[in-house]
Amino acid sequence: MVKFPALFSPINIGGVMVRNRIVMAPMAVNYAHLNGEVSERQIAYYEARARGGAGLVIVEAACIDAPAGRESFGQILIDHPRYLRGLNQLADGIKSYGSRAFIQLFHAGRQAHTIITGVQQVAPSAIACPTVKEIPRELSITEVQDIRDKFITAAGYANMAGFDGVEIHAAHGYLINQFLSPNSNQRSDEYGGSLDNRMRLLIEIVAGIKKSFPKLVLGVRLNIEDFVPDGLELAESLEICRRLEEEGVDLINCSCGTYESGLTSIEPASYSEGWRSYMAEAVKQVVNIPVMSGGMVRKPEMAEEIIKKQQADLVFLGRALLADSDWASKAKKGRSEEIRPCIICNNCIESNFKSIAVSCTVNPETGRERELNKTPKIKKKSRVVVVGGGPAGMQVALALDRYGFEVDLFEQEERLGGLLNLAAVPPHKERITLFKDYLIKCLKRSRVSINLNQPYKLEYLREQYPDHLVIASGSKPIRPTCKGWNEKNCLQVEDVLNGRLRLEGQRVVVIGGGSNGCETADFLTRDANHITIIEKEQFLARDMEKKNRRDLLNRLQTGGVIRHIGSSVIKIGNDNVTIASSNGQQEILPADYIISAVGYEPDNEIYMKAIKLHASTHLIGDAFAVGGIREAILQGETLATKLVQREYASVWE
Ligand SMILES: Cc1cc2nc3c(=O)[nH]c(=O)nc-3n(C[C@H](O)[C@H](O)[C@H](O)COP(=O)(O)O)c2cc1C
Ligand code: SF4
Repeated sequence: MVKFPALFSPINIGGVMVRNRIVMAPMAVNYAHLNGEVSERQIAYYEARARGGAGLVIVEAACIDAPAGRESFGQILIDHPRYLRGLNQLADGIKSYGSRAFIQLFHAGRQAHTIITGVQQVAPSAIACPTVKEIPRELSITEVQDIRDKFITAAGYANMAGFDGVEIHAAHGYLINQFLSPNSNQRSDEYGGSLDNRMRLLIEIVAGIKKSFPKLVLGVRLNIEDFVPDGLELAESLEICRRLEEEGVDLINCSCGTYESGLTSIEPASYSEGWRSYMAEAVKQVVNIPVMSGGMVRKPEMAEEIIKKQQADLVFLGRALLADSDWASKAKKGRSEEIRPCIICNNCIESNFKSIAVSCTVNPETGRERELNKTPKIKKKSRVVVVGGGPAGMQVALALDRYGFEVDLFEQEERLGGLLNLAAVPPHKERITLFKDYLIKCLKRSRVSINLNQPYKLEYLREQYPDHLVIASGSKPIRPTCKGWNEKNCLQVEDVLNGRLRLEGQRVVVIGGGSNGCETADFLTRDANHITIIEKEQFLARDMEKKNRRDLLNRLQTGGVIRHIGSSVIKIGNDNVTIASSNGQQEILPADYIISAVGYEPDNEIYMKAIKLHASTHLIGDAFAVGGIREAILQGETLATKLVQREYASVWE
């Protein structure tokens, strides 16, 4: 019996039958060629999600009017017949695995960046997006109608390319949303003012597509709430939904937030799972067409509940499908615990905003489906010793096992995970534990031999000489060099995060305001400690992804954490710390405890000795260069494929 019967029941959308209620959300991944053509990499990436069981795949925002409407390099363009061949291969690829294929039609409006488009932005009114901070040019009525026609023509291209449907992107502060929202639309002609006028462009596009391509299924992604002053709110959005249904729209995809509202369209980790469901639930009260919800849905149980409670008819998954392309098929088989969890680090969207190819921290296959699927298993017996059971060590061991190597993993601690164990402790980082547990479960299911409490000794090489030696020995904390550091009240971040010492109601000075220091401060505010952060640079948590950073800094503010930026520690006393600001002014801060968060350095001692003893010794993860989980996982996976290549090359040696 299917474990999630509501989620896996079919649904008819505009005359097209969809095999289940799971929808891959549109996500711009920047895999297209620079000229806007779909790439083979992109096709393989989408095919993997279709093969993984999603009922409907909505291909990412495709620009209907370049250059002005373009958001990034690597975005798909759909404003000329030259793109049809690639679009057709993409639609066919998705459909060949039983999924339905839609493509999202998009114009960035004032959220475009001149550095990418090379032209001034266009918008309903000449009001800058507060985040992009560039003043757009107000579109004339003829230009508005030209854009309307380009949306309709693009729908025609999608139809010719073989897509089952299109979705008009009317959300997230992009052009159509800008027309709908009084926050960005202050026109006094027929495209501004009243709600009827503000929705005129959208309604004309819908009517045009319906008239020209009646069989093409038509969805609209709409912001139900903009979450900005004078933005769209529920009552007006419900009115728009009613009109969309009257005009023949087949599906409403409920979303929210704009660049300006910041955290709500792609949430940081502090948002609770399924928090947006109330929006779709309200829309369902006023329309009879299928309604889609999503945002922060990670578990099949949550998706099932949304459908079962009739809060929505379909559930979209964004990041969850970047993290695991097989989410749907695993859920269907009742193997939810095998789903690789998204840790909501938001590295994916950070890459997207930088206009570079999106990758996923926890899933090294995302965007590399073609290469990795082609990597063959090795044919002869080959043994690898992996030293270190942190993320890099675990990932390389798993990948090597997958390729047919015999793997021995040595970890000196009593548990696997390395720094993941500490990284998961601060508030809203608990999903890192889910990921660590996922890796451990995979290892337990694999043939990897795991040796805990066993520091690897190079003498072992005399007894058993493996074909390859992989050193993933991690990193160690850097000790501050300031005077007085050895006072007994001086601690490392580890001392508090590992739970051995609990500070309550103390005056704590944290040296170092990178993500590590700020997250530790966030953790300590919970126990009524009075925290001060000292940071040399002008910014706190600069190394962190923007949304999670903004969220964290807001919490530090609420938690009353005092920040001294552009300041360094001069000396540490018994119960105080002397700091100096960049202009040399000194200040003495009272402190019961001083915590160092000045960073980590590679722990590569064993590597330096091992390379003299074993020609095929490899260094990965923090032991190579201190980085994040993404670097560790990627290096683990990449090294495994290189060792496969080396095995094949050695056949010819
Ligand atoms: C890398 C990335 C790219 C995105 N690109 C788009 C896009 O092209 N169009 C769109 O409507 N939403 C886009 N989104 C938003 C997602 O569709 C989705 O609404 C959001 O990620 C929240 O859902 P989730 O928690 O399931 O990821 C993007 C999100 C991510 C993470
Ligand atoms: S990069 Fe991070 S947020 Fe994005 S899908 Fe992967 S784990 Fe989730």
